[in-house]
Amino acid sequence: MIGDVQNPAPPSLDVRGVRYAYPDGHVALHGVDLTVARGGRVALLGPNGAGKTTLVLHLNGILTAAEGSVSVGGLTVSRDRDTLAEIRRRVGIVFQDPDDQLFLPTVAEDVAFGPANLGLRGAELAARVDEALAAVGMGEHRDRAPHHLSFGQRRRVAVATVLAMHPEILVLDEPSSNLDPAARRELAEILRGLPVTLLMVTHDLPYALELCDRSVILDGGRIVADADTRELLADRELLAAHRLELPYGFTP
Ligand SMILES: Nc1ncnc2c1ncn2[C@@H]1O[C@H](COP(=O)(O)OP(=O)(O)OP(=O)(O)O)[C@@H](O)[C@H]1O
Ligand SMILES: [Mg+2]
Repeated sequence: MIGDVQNPAPPSLDVRGVRYAYPDGHVALHGVDLTVARGGRVALLGPNGAGKTTLVLHLNGILTAAEGSVSVGGLTVSRDRDTLAEIRRRVGIVFQDPDDQLFLPTVAEDVAFGPANLGLRGAELAARVDEALAAVGMGEHRDRAPHHLSFGQRRRVAVATVLAMHPEILVLDEPSSNLDPAARRELAEILRGLPVTLLMVTHDLPYALELCDRSVILDGGRIVADADTRELLADRELLAAHRLELPYGFTP
């Protein structure tokens, strides 16, 4: 339900002042603020080493900030076991390599794994699996072994494994990497049709424009821009200052 003015729905994601240093002392995040309203679609851009993946790892408590906080749909990430379990249900992260996410003998078992852990059984569980596989167009491959699928198909199954959890926010780390042009376009069509809040890390600027009306640039562990994607991509100086490049011949 959408909240009213007195009682608005909490944002899907609210990152406040997050600072993080790796154990070797390297400070990867220098106080990051980022709010994504429910239903928002945001691209997270930035050069290699900017801190994008480090930020993503904070969203479901894999890493914990030295300072600052992360809230998902109004629930603040903490080390408390029940809180962490609920946060991990709410934040569906699709990692760069689908093979990090698929480990069971069949596609359907991989998609059922998360909801089964939540306690779903029988018809309810089967419905979750069917719905998630249908959303990514992989229903007909449900009984196949994930390692027999193409890379693009495995990425779609990885998306299904998190959709099956009914997440508050879908977070994708470089979803178009290693996809051929047709698979890249097919995944874009799938993502465009999903009724979820989306945070997408990408180096693929046309993909950001296609799927996200808003983009933020992270560089050196700081958010340095937050704007309408088309306006941001039209700012050549801004892009150049942060090692972002449009493909040859592409005009936003
Ligand atoms: N385990 C680690 N220990 C120490 N430093 C790390 C570790 N992992 C990442 N870093 C450093 O933290 C910074 C941010 O890394 P991160 O992986 O978040 O960047 P990124 O924006 O995701 O880059 P890419 O575009 O290459 O994926 C980099 O300087 C990186 O060297
Ligand atoms: Mg990364």
